[in-house]
Amino acid sequence: MQIKLFLKRILYPLLNILDNKGLLKLLMHHSVVLGLSRIKGCRFSVSGNGSRIIIGDGCVIKGLNCLLFGDDSQVIIGNNVHINASKHFPTVMNAVNGTKIIIGDECLFSNSIELHTTDYHPIYEIGDGKAINNAKDIVLDSHVWVGFRTIILKGSHISSDSVIGAGSLVASSFEEKNIIVCGIPAKIIKSGINWHL
Ligand SMILES: CC(C)(COP(=O)(O)OP(=O)(O)OC[C@H]1O[C@@H](n2cnc3c(N)ncnc32)[C@H](O)[C@@H]1OP(=O)(O)O)[C@@H](O)C(=O)NCCC(=O)NCCS
Repeated sequence: MQIKLFLKRILYPLLNILDNKGLLKLLMHHSVVLGLSRIKGCRFSVSGNGSRIIIGDGCVIKGLNCLLFGDDSQVIIGNNVHINASKHFPTVMNAVNGTKIIIGDECLFSNSIELHTTDYHPIYEIGDGKAINNAKDIVLDSHVWVGFRTIILKGSHISSDSVIGAGSLVASSFEEKNIIVCGIPAKIIKSGINWHL
């Protein structure tokens, strides 16, 4: 009797709520590991052995689209990350062929941002056919604010407490913390800064 009541009053309504929000499918999918976070209007497509999207606790993630393919590709989002995108103006994080996109705690993303660990088509040297544009990880350390319409390409790294200006194209590593980088390609325009929500 008590089990019936539990199922009827608690478990079934809870599963219904999760299902209505599209979360049930996500939670049951071993390729997406979701902490205690709020996600809305996201689209995740994961294939390949060991490929996984991992989202920490305390995040508010709206309008994130992720495409992962090839084995061991990962998008790892830390704790308290905010993504303020939407279905019509999504922010995209694509990781392929064993590469990772690692987003540190407390990062903030606007809409229409693109992160891609690959160029999708190989470029090679004519002589020996050696590939010159292999896929590489993208790493944003903690507390990085990414302005709208920014593009972040393979191999990029941004150090903590930094800002990437709107419409920038990041294609290299910035090891200095507390900087603003802007432009195409992105360069440091200010040092010794910090920001808050
Ligand atoms: C990066 C940003 C925060 C810098 O603001 P700021 O510190 O006030 O910078 P300034 O306006 O003093 O600009 C300094 C210089 O950088 C240039 N600059 C500023 N933002 C730039 C950008 N996004 N791309 C290229 N150059 C930029 C300015 O033209 C100026 O150049 P100058 O010295 O040759 O005149 C701001 O310009 C920006 O891009 N904000 C993004 C806002 C956003 O995406 N919000 C989404 C909400 S989540």
